Amino acid sequence: MNRTRHPPAPPQTSPPDPTQKPVSLRIEDLGKFYGQGAAARPVFRHLNLTVAPGEFVAIVGESGVGKSTLLNCMAGLDDWDEGRVLLGAHDLGTMDAEQRALWRRANVGFVFQAFHVLPHLDVAQNVGLPLMLLGQHAHMKARVAHMLEAVGLEGLGQRLPQQLSGGQLQRVAIARALVHRPGLLLADEPTGNLDPGTAAKVMELLLAESRAQGATLVLVTHSEAAAGLADRRLHLTQDGFR
Ligand SMILES: Nc1ncnc2c1ncn2[C@@H]1O[C@H](COP(=O)(O)OP(=O)(O)O)[C@@H](O)[C@H]1O
Ligand SMILES: [Mg+2]
Repeated sequence: MNRTRHPPAPPQTSPPDPTQKPVSLRIEDLGKFYGQGAAARPVFRHLNLTVAPGEFVAIVGESGVGKSTLLNCMAGLDDWDEGRVLLGAHDLGTMDAEQRALWRRANVGFVFQAFHVLPHLDVAQNVGLPLMLLGQHAHMKARVAHMLEAVGLEGLGQRLPQQLSGGQLQRVAIARALVHRPGLLLADEPTGNLDPGTAAKVMELLLAESRAQGATLVLVTHSEAAAGLADRRLHLTQDGFR
């Protein structure tokens, strides 16, 4: 039997995957409690918010008011007790943990205050991780190189995290959060652990890259300068958004 002869593969000249569509985000009457029964205390209740695709919303508010909890609910990293979280056409509350994880992996980028860079992987491996998990190996090298350049870390791909400064670590985290072109970027006080000069630069970079990709962005920040650049600035209080 003749084996089928395959033509040689075309050269890899195609551009990396197109930017994913920005994701719309809606929370409806959202409530979250800690503790059980009589000891249950709400972190927040009756929160409503709609974020349009590609919109940049900044959330400010006092420490302990529930900003991180809210962002974690938006990502499906945390469960809530009342209301709904809708991301694009998906109702997160109807998805099980695995479905949420898969959806998040493909559509969400998350930047935390503490950098959460994996210590045993080098910089390039950290940045490429989302593509690796998505099985998108074909353009991984090019995308990682592009993102490292975009955040000013070109040439540092082989470094280990312990050889980087805080500002550089957070730039690794930003590159990693955007490498798979997520439709939604969630950032929780991403410059909270950096000195003011570095923080300003890192924030500028995060906003520029998020805009360049057209992602929907929800940013929790104490930086009034950053919040001032948002399409909308929301103040989260004990009584909801103000
Ligand atoms: N795992 C938890 N168990 C109990 N209470 C928690 C937990 N996580 C957060 N909280 C409480 O929820 C409230 C909101 O916390 P958080 O979302 O971290 O606020 P913020 O990010 O605005 O500082 C705080 O009062 C905090 O103590
Ligand atoms: Mg917080």
